[in-house]
Amino acid sequence: MKRILVTGGAGFIGSAFVRYQLETYPDVHVVNFDKLTYAGNLDNVKGVDDKRHTFIKGDIADAGAITEAMKGCDAVVNFAAETHVDRSILGAAEFINTDITGVYNIVEAAKTLGTKRVLLVSTDEVYGSILDGSFKESDPVGPRNPYSASKAGGELIGLSYFHTFGLPVVITRGSNTYGPFQYPEKVLPLFVTNAIDDIPVPLYGDGKNVRDWLYVDDHCSGIDTALRKGEPGQIYNVAGGNERENIVLTHRILELAGKTAALIKPVADRPGHDRRYSIDASKLHALGWQPKMDWDAGMALTVKWYRDNEWWWRKIKTGEYLEYYKRQYGGQ
Ligand code: NAD
Ligand code: DAU
Repeated sequence: MKRILVTGGAGFIGSAFVRYQLETYPDVHVVNFDKLTYAGNLDNVKGVDDKRHTFIKGDIADAGAITEAMKGCDAVVNFAAETHVDRSILGAAEFINTDITGVYNIVEAAKTLGTKRVLLVSTDEVYGSILDGSFKESDPVGPRNPYSASKAGGELIGLSYFHTFGLPVVITRGSNTYGPFQYPEKVLPLFVTNAIDDIPVPLYGDGKNVRDWLYVDDHCSGIDTALRKGEPGQIYNVAGGNERENIVLTHRILELAGKTAALIKPVADRPGHDRRYSIDASKLHALGWQPKMDWDAGMALTVKWYRDNEWWWRKIKTGEYLEYYKRQYGGQ
């Protein structure tokens, strides 16, 4: 693989994947195709090797633009998506447009061009909630919010292109990812940046919902393993192995930010809030992948990164962000 098209490479995980490819494989050239929505940010790829990184501003829902960008690429890895559950509850149209139609355009372009590998980055949320045990790839999907339903839709379109046309599609389902450069609507960067400014952190419901935390570079190495060693038509879970209740996560964030629990503000629960996510990643482990980051160390370095990089998030927490914040949390 010499030329890889990364869609959504200006977002949180996509930008880390761009850096991962350029740092790990000296002969790889990355074409980064991103619409630069509210969540896309060229600051996320500041300083990457320009000679091996080409940025194209474009929309995966635009069939002509994505086909043009894919020409000459050996593989495409799709990160481009609308990704925030709360926004999908406020309005789902963009989720359907990008996460379903956009994925259709990607597989259709890959089929036309004969692209050798198509990796669709998906999420553990497609399984829905599980109170005991962990989901395996062979379990049926049961998404319960508009975001996860649209991600499941995109997956199914992708898999149909494997079964019907033999397109070499591989899917990864990652768990809750954390690290530097995450847009501060997601719980971890939202709580850290609020805490730095002594703004209350809005904890949904009883705070006992469980998420499995995966450090961003481990998520990237998991996707890379599936890309290079995975079998076409297969799905691979990428789990962090760090299940925590939100209240535990919140206390740790506040402690690392040097604040007290007085900042915790219990607010109304998210509608349809999935209680627990848990996935079994033994299928990816069998390909040689293991997450490297310890949760305590990852949390410490992540909170420190937001404390040290106000230049990155302060300019995001203005304009559209403040309007969204008011819409989402205003009445509470
Ligand atoms: P993000 O919201 O930080 O970034 C998404 C990126 O996609 C942005 O750069 C945005 O500009 C771009 N984009 C959105 N719509 C586009 C379009 N129509 N055309 C081109 N670009 C578009 O997201 P993230 O957290 O980095 O997630 C990346 C992928 O990983 C998504 O597919 C998401 O479903 C999946 N995922 C995320 C997590 C997580 O915890 N963050 C976990 C598992 C899977
Ligand atoms: O599981 C993978 C998924 O993880 C990804 O597919 C999604 O793109 C990503 O956004 C994430 O989804 P979650 O809904 O789990 O993440 P979020 O950060 O929004 O919420 C994490 C938990 O924290 C969840 O139980 C809801 C809770 N929460 C969240 C916010 C934003 C709060 O209590 N208060 C908040 O303000």
